[in-house]
Amino acid sequence: MPVYDKPMVYYPMSTLMMAGIREILVITTPEHREQFRGLLGDGEQLGMRLEYRTQEAPRGLAEAFLIGESFIAGERSALVLGDNIFHGTGLGSSLRQHTCAEGSVIFAYQVSNPQAYGVVEFDGQMRAVSIEEKPAVPKSSYAVPGLYFYDSDVVEIARGVRPSRRGELEISSINERYLEAGRLHVQPLDRGTAWLDTGTVESMMQASEYVRVIEERQGFKIGCIEEIAWRNGWISDRELADLAAPLRRSGYGAYLERLLAA
Ligand code: G1P
Repeated sequence: MPVYDKPMVYYPMSTLMMAGIREILVITTPEHREQFRGLLGDGEQLGMRLEYRTQEAPRGLAEAFLIGESFIAGERSALVLGDNIFHGTGLGSSLRQHTCAEGSVIFAYQVSNPQAYGVVEFDGQMRAVSIEEKPAVPKSSYAVPGLYFYDSDVVEIARGVRPSRRGELEISSINERYLEAGRLHVQPLDRGTAWLDTGTVESMMQASEYVRVIEERQGFKIGCIEEIAWRNGWISDRELADLAAPLRRSGYGAYLERLLAA
């Protein structure tokens, strides 16, 4: 599914890449796995390591840590949802700090429809006091975006999560466990950061429009994985040129070549 001029998966993937994460496990439905593998391969062309695993049934986001246990291999990990787009000044450098934080780091973002999300409630000192998944009566307007950083305990915690009323292993249950243990850091994202999700046709169209307007105005692309790999120093000028060449006739390839000429 494209958002403006690139596949949706490029956006969440680019968020992890901006955080300096080079090894990514792509978890898909069984039907879609080969499509993703065909699109992104083993990641070597981006100086990355990509692997693929499937979630056999929609049993909830927390299952990602069970599916990914051997990939995580006792290290810290991050999870980004495939339908979430993040964009804003300084996002990359602020995310990089969280990859080595202790416990868990999640985010909070004010929205007009918090009941559609995980909702975090703060006390007067902006300390998180509760997390609820899709509450009918939200205790705040702060939604939890689909980007989470965890220490190595997350796999064990995920193992203890029981299905919610809607029958899913909720990511909010993992976050609640970190909160109870006093090991959850909730970082509010400021209004200058855009967080979009594309779970509905309407929000997908809004996200496409957002990306188009910003890209046309600035001349820089959002979610361009080849550009990020190159700026991170994971691929050389030569390797970027090789990625650009077959795409030359599209605006996308021309954009990559312009980066090299600048
Ligand atoms: C999921 C999470 C929710 C989070 C949201 C962000 O919701 O369960 O806590 O706020 O992603 O996009 P879902 O997409 O499963 O409705």
